Amino acid sequence: MGHVRIAILASGSGSNALKLLAHFKHTETNVTVALIGTNNPAAGVLNHAKAYNIKPFIFDKTTFNSPDFVKRLKADGIDWIVLAGFLWLIPENLISAFENKIINIHPSLLPKYGGKGMYGNHVHQAVLNNQELKTGITIHLVNNEYDKGAQLFQAAVAIAEEDTLEAVQKKVQVLEHQYFAGVVESLIAFCG
Ligand code: GAR
Repeated sequence: MGHVRIAILASGSGSNALKLLAHFKHTETNVTVALIGTNNPAAGVLNHAKAYNIKPFIFDKTTFNSPDFVKRLKADGIDWIVLAGFLWLIPENLISAFENKIINIHPSLLPKYGGKGMYGNHVHQAVLNNQELKTGITIHLVNNEYDKGAQLFQAAVAIAEEDTLEAVQKKVQVLEHQYFAGVVESLIAFCG
């Protein structure tokens, strides 16, 4: 397998992006994080991009939904896109340009608690409201519907009766940080 270049798209603090950056810098792989993209000029992920000396790409919705976005990624030689807390729906042209090569992480056991508006603590609050006994993470391919693409991996964790929103968020984040980079690496290796 030749060299593989990935772009990470993130809208927020970027703790998962940071794990991916560290993993692919320090692990013997042929994968490089070549680009960090965000729709949010205040996103914490931009600090991580700087720390790892990776050029950031800050874009607005018009650019994201235009053919220029695909052109920009292709010009950078990007092979895979990894969504790490990225909240916009991926447009058709981007999906077809990177068919089966866009990976997302979602903080619930899909198909439960997915869909538009289901992100971050909205997910965990809904899980608590419904008195679920467990929650977890789903890593999946991206298609043109929120959180509906083919599932690649799930991990679950029990919820204790006394767990607060923060406790659930933390438990899920532990799973994300434990598994995401390895699953991304395996999938890329498997697909060649
Ligand atoms: C993560 O929990 C991720 O699963 C979630 O956003 C968080 C980003 O955290 N993604 C979604 O909710 C997608 N619908 P981070 O910025 O610390 O990586």
